[in-house]
Amino acid sequence: MSFRLVIALASMVCAGLALAADPPPPAAPGSAPQAEAAASTAAATTKPGDATTGQAKSATCAACHGLDGNPASSQYPKLAGQHEQYIVRQVELFKSHKRDSAVMMGFVMSLSEQDMHDIGAYFASKSSLPGVADAKLVARGEALYRGGDKAANLPACMACHGPDGRGNPGAGYPQLAGQYADYITLKLKDFAAGKSFTDDERGKIMATVVKGMSDQDIAALASYVEGLHAADTGSTAAK
Ligand code: HEC
Ligand code: HEC
Repeated sequence: MSFRLVIALASMVCAGLALAADPPPPAAPGSAPQAEAAASTAAATTKPGDATTGQAKSATCAACHGLDGNPASSQYPKLAGQHEQYIVRQVELFKSHKRDSAVMMGFVMSLSEQDMHDIGAYFASKSSLPGVADAKLVARGEALYRGGDKAANLPACMACHGPDGRGNPGAGYPQLAGQYADYITLKLKDFAAGKSFTDDERGKIMATVVKGMSDQDIAALASYVEGLHAADTGSTAAK
């Protein structure tokens, strides 16, 4: 049953991707080169992100997300190793007020599409520092992550986020490996309560997946994910 749910959700995403060939947004007045580029495909309007340029552009982000995308405080999500496309999508969602964050808003308003790609490429080139899972929670967390819960109609997280938590950039499934449990907990609580980043097809997936999940299961999953190591094949450190 859970398997069928995953397939259904995955095809929702595919449908979403097919629709992603929307025309690019209208260029701002006076930006002739952009208007020209807009005439070609959406993909051609922006060059692939450049990590070296992105490092300089990410100076303001470092205060919270860390110089290399590994923040000192678990209040802020790790961006290190996160996929370029996922970072671009989230920044766009903050910018257009579709994903709510009073904190992030002020830092993204002036970023151009190219800036987002460059910054995304920079953080994607870094490695997420591995964390450690709580030994008391790891068994339940691992069972849910790898096998889901048939009775609760919960698909395995691994089906989309990968056995090692690296996600799938093409499908828009973010990296979770090593992410702070505090941040994962906040997001899962929102999703379980029906709150998504945004209401497009991709945005709605997580709220469907974890609808009504208990706080205990959220804690177990968040801890397990923090201990997942993207660098090797899905081993987990726990203490
Ligand atoms: C003052 C602190 C602060 C600064 C500076 C900051 N951020 Fe953030 N960022 C946050 C917080 C807090 C969140 C979590 C928001 C939420 O989920 O409610 C976040 C979330 C994000 C996310 C989503 C991560 C995910 O896993 O979904 C991205 C991407 C991001 N920030 C990029 C940036 C970029 C790029 C910059 C620099 C241009 C930046 N941030 C500057 C605090 C900050
Ligand atoms: C059918 C595919 C699918 C399954 C199964 C799935 N996810 Fe996700 N997940 C997504 C997508 C897509 C997003 C990004 C949503 C967006 O960009 O709006 C996401 C985002 C997340 C985020 C937010 C990450 C961040 O950096 O902010 C967390 C946390 C998460 N998933 C945890 C889980 C857990 C835990 C499970 C298992 C209970 C799970 N996911 C199962 C597709 C899936």
